[in-house]
Amino acid sequence: MLTRNDPCWCGSGKKYKKCHEEFDRHLHQLKKEGKRIPTHKMIKNEEDIHWIREAAKINNAVLDLVGEKIHIGMTTDEIDQLVHDYTVEHGGIPACLGYEGFPKSCCTSVNDQICHGIPDDYVLQDGDIINVDCTTIVNGHYADASRMYCLGNVAPNAQKLVDVTKQCLEAGIAAVKPWGHLGDIGAAIQEIAHANGYSVVVDFCGHGVGNAFHEDPMVPHVGRKGTGVVLAPGMVFTIEPMINEGVASLFIDADNDWTSYTDDGKLSAQWENTILVTEDGIEIIAH
Ligand code: MF3
Ligand code: CO
Ligand code: CO
Repeated sequence: MLTRNDPCWCGSGKKYKKCHEEFDRHLHQLKKEGKRIPTHKMIKNEEDIHWIREAAKINNAVLDLVGEKIHIGMTTDEIDQLVHDYTVEHGGIPACLGYEGFPKSCCTSVNDQICHGIPDDYVLQDGDIINVDCTTIVNGHYADASRMYCLGNVAPNAQKLVDVTKQCLEAGIAAVKPWGHLGDIGAAIQEIAHANGYSVVVDFCGHGVGNAFHEDPMVPHVGRKGTGVVLAPGMVFTIEPMINEGVASLFIDADNDWTSYTDDGKLSAQWENTILVTEDGIEIIAH
């Protein structure tokens, strides 16, 4: 048990009474009301947030660079090279490279690939839609984001899927309120996806991020308003809805054990941001 003059558990170096004592009292009260409350590990201090923002600066710039350079006829390996070189030249580490054996510096997921596509000699075609997912480490801190890129003449149904998936992400973010609930996010996302006749992938979730690649809590992209863990200031997590034109079910490439595909071969899209919950709202850190 901490006394009021002990250093705070968050690592700020401040006395507990001047830091998270009030916060803990509030959580204790919410717990008594039957709510699920976040663990202390889920709460980042100012120094953590500083380094996550630094990682995000590189990560955001990498995704901008991909947007400038991507073109029909380019291979996904060439995208990977861009991501790798820009990241290391700016003092970051590509978190994907070597992560649980993943061989490349980013994920490139084309058309019916849902996520975890591995860059290779695939040549981008007119009409392709592709998600590029990058995570950067700076001073041990992580920022994670992905965007969709549309190549050439994209079919109207593909463009609509890309646009609606972005709306899903934006609605998920808009649902994040300090002292709100995690389930509010999935509820907002699924409402938009289903209204457009799409399905939401449930086999992959967003996640806490910052001091490691994947931390608690898991952030489902479906849910019920007012349920799930309470969202407290200092929490940093991703929202990364994967939305399918057809069925939500998927299979994983048996050769590489990574890449997931829609079961029915129809299109999938994804956008991912890293979000910080603040005292009075949110900050989009990586996008
Ligand atoms: N960036 C992905 C995510 O959003 C994780 C990729 S793991 C990798 O969580 F190993 F495939 F790179
Ligand atoms: Co992520
Ligand atoms: Co990601």
